[in-house]
Amino acid sequence: MTAQPLGARLLLLLAVLMLVATACSGGADDQVAEQDPVLVAKGGELYKASCAECHGSDLRGTDKGPSHLSILYQPGHHGDGAFQIAVLIGSTAHHWDFGPMPPVEGLSEDDVEAITAFVRQRQREEGFEPYPP
Ligand code: HEC
Repeated sequence: MTAQPLGARLLLLLAVLMLVATACSGGADDQVAEQDPVLVAKGGELYKASCAECHGSDLRGTDKGPSHLSILYQPGHHGDGAFQIAVLIGSTAHHWDFGPMPPVEGLSEDDVEAITAFVRQRQREEGFEPYPP
């Protein structure tokens, strides 16, 4: 993949996010789709290396970050664009008391797509935890 300037990538992500927000009003579509096993395997490795420190290798959170199996992170509420944004620019502390998430360096858009597929597959297989926990 060729490197895009950060601005272009951000604009694209914002467009994706707005689409997600528009699609978000229904709430009926809670079912998580089956994911590509190749992507899931790649994403699992990357998740272990880059995300598990805070989100837990079982995705259920640590004292540094929340569980990605929270109902909060179902596709209809935090779409795949939210994962790209969080990795690229981090996240303010707004749903939890862990403090902000810093940007995660060294991951391509494709890497984050694989990570997202891994998280979606786990959500599909294990179901969601209530929010607030
Ligand atoms: C240093 C700790 C830390 C690491 C490492 C980390 N996160 Fe986070 N992440 C957090 C915290 C804390 C929050 C919760 C922010 C809040 O909503 O209060 C969060 C929230 C998120 C969110 C939700 C953002 C939103 O829009 O509300 C996503 C998506 C996410 N993380 C994905 C990832 C992925 C993918 C990785 C690995 C590439 C990762 N995180 C690595 C700490 C971390």
